[in-house]
Amino acid sequence: MFITFEGPEGSGKSSQIALLADWLRPMKQDVLLTREPGGTAIGDRVRAILLDPACTEMEDAAEVLLYSAARAQHVGQVIRPHLARGGVVLCDRYADSTLAYQGYGRGLDLATLAVITAFATGGLRPDLVVFLDIDVAAGLRRKQLHADEDASQWNRFERETLAYHQRVRAGYLQMAAAEPGRWLLVDAAQSVEKVQAAVRQRVGAALGLSSPVGRDE
Ligand code: TMP
Repeated sequence: MFITFEGPEGSGKSSQIALLADWLRPMKQDVLLTREPGGTAIGDRVRAILLDPACTEMEDAAEVLLYSAARAQHVGQVIRPHLARGGVVLCDRYADSTLAYQGYGRGLDLATLAVITAFATGGLRPDLVVFLDIDVAAGLRRKQLHADEDASQWNRFERETLAYHQRVRAGYLQMAAAEPGRWLLVDAAQSVEKVQAAVRQRVGAALGLSSPVGRDE
């Protein structure tokens, strides 16, 4: 099963995905926790370019193709082989981030992005997308409050305007509404425990695990 986590900045994806992995591992041995952009040595090098605040002159098309290049490497080298072994893949961001950030956020043509993404992934789509929804200003504030976050260190995306992030969030909400069976929408303003309980319930049901809620590692 291939599960991705999506959300605006500061939605708590990384903590939630780690908690889910901790919960699944004792039950399902073969859980791979990975992220985009990244997940491979090549992808991590592309990530450094993409997030570097100094790369202000990056063309929108170059941005899309760099994300897609990292994704093609990630899918071929890591995700598909793990799924082929019968493993569970938990991925922090995937192709829906490209639609949200480059499509809805930057205004690039969604149909073109879909074609590029299909080429990069060979058509691999997640079985479940967990969308952690948070008010954009609240999410950015959360990021800023985070102990090791210093706004002067923010990456190219965190530095974007509030209006940009609002378009990203609206895009996510539109995608979630279009495919309610494949998307789990969770209110990320709730406590970490409540968000995690909602995620475990849905993932546990999808994987056929018994009594998913309330069991702790
Ligand atoms: P992260 O902060 O969740 O690690 O994600 C890195 C940034 O990259 C985040 O601001 C969202 C952005 N991003 C895109 O714009 N398009 C993409 O396809 C992906 C995967 C991430």
